[in-house]
Amino acid sequence: MKDLTPNTDDLDPIEIASVDEIRALQLERLKWSVRHAYDNVPMYKARFDDAGVHPDDLRQLSDLSKFPFTLKNDLRDNYPFGLFAVPKSEVVRIHASSGTTGKPTVVGYTRGDIDNWADLVARSIRASGIRKGEMVHVAYGYGLFTGGLGAHYGAERLGCTVIPMSGGQTERQVSLIQDFKPDGIMVTPSYMLNILEQFLKQGLDPRACSLKVGIFGAEPWTDAMRSQVEDAFDMHAVDIYGLSEIMGPGVANECVETKDGPVIWEDHFLPEIIDPDTGEVLPDGEEGELVFTTLTKEALPMIRYRTRDLTRLLPGTARSMRRMAKITGRSDDMIILRGVNVFPSQIEEQVMATGGLAPHYQIELYKSGRMDAMRVHVEASPDASGEMAKTAAARMLNKRIKDMVGVSTEIIVGEPGEVERSQGKARRVVDKRDRE
Ligand code: DLL
Repeated sequence: MKDLTPNTDDLDPIEIASVDEIRALQLERLKWSVRHAYDNVPMYKARFDDAGVHPDDLRQLSDLSKFPFTLKNDLRDNYPFGLFAVPKSEVVRIHASSGTTGKPTVVGYTRGDIDNWADLVARSIRASGIRKGEMVHVAYGYGLFTGGLGAHYGAERLGCTVIPMSGGQTERQVSLIQDFKPDGIMVTPSYMLNILEQFLKQGLDPRACSLKVGIFGAEPWTDAMRSQVEDAFDMHAVDIYGLSEIMGPGVANECVETKDGPVIWEDHFLPEIIDPDTGEVLPDGEEGELVFTTLTKEALPMIRYRTRDLTRLLPGTARSMRRMAKITGRSDDMIILRGVNVFPSQIEEQVMATGGLAPHYQIELYKSGRMDAMRVHVEASPDASGEMAKTAAARMLNKRIKDMVGVSTEIIVGEPGEVERSQGKARRVVDKRDRE
């Protein structure tokens, strides 16, 4: 793979400014953002008043910890536009996340918000190793999901040629990649595996294709998956993070030269890590729930929004801004198996490390008597689908999971193609505990 380290002259100056400069800018913007929320969103005013805090109390960044948190439910309770801080006529775009239960979460953007978002996604794509003038294939879904349009505007802003393919139609994805020869692809990692499979099905060598960078996010993925995709396509795989409530893709993005966790674009978002049980702010380096405060968002300022994502804040490396460790998982996705916490990403690591298995998996939770139990559905790789190889792979995976979590799980090794394929965000856990 080629060295794609960017030229420092091409970076936004703030990416490599001193930490002191970044903190000073954050404080100035934080004061604006908290006041903007207080003055224009009745919920924030009521919350801050109840908690006995006022925007004037913000003298240093750490004062933010006195302010109350905002939760996903606050967006639902104020559905659809109750948290908007500007008149509706100034909102130029709406996105929404489907949500598995209840109402969707609706987010809005002013012209200025869209502009900042495009800048930050452009910055993210550049950090990933793509340059102006190159071609980017976008296979994140277009529509209410922020992935497609977010990626699209950012790639255009950087000066790339964009292929707005959206998700699905996997055969067509492959023909377009073969015919148009894009330099980069933006897609969920699980859907990239689906695309990989289609390459192989068509007898094409993925390593020979034009792609040199994949910008993967919208769902957790492991370093084991990174190696797999990098080897399969002979391309760099970097992590892009974001969430619609805060903006969409491009809140943080990994640098291709270090691949050591997404750099949080701290000039627009202030991160904190809290203990999810007590709400206490934890020092950098400790694992907890990621909380964001937007510093420049006009339409939908978010003050101390609890993401439910679990990670750690790490010091800057390729840039001065802090990084986040790869997301372990969402607190909502944590599986508690006989008292032990397990995340789908831990299962993924073990599946990837087990010979004879394809990288597709799904976890089924069910009741065994009164106990919760877990079944892991995987499938044999096409070159190892004999019965003996399947039994050996199942035994090996079971042992690996048992060594990791201390409990035995049922492993079902299906034929190639049996595990549900992702078209976007993969469904890693199927919970059947209520149904038995
Ligand atoms: O998934 C935005 C996005 C689109 C990010 C495309 C990256 C690329 P939501 O649908 O609101 O927004 O889902 C946000 O997805 O809280 C995480 O749990 C998860 N997530 C997003 N990126 C990553 C990542 C988009 N790189 C939720 N690693 C977040 C792990 C991620 N999880």
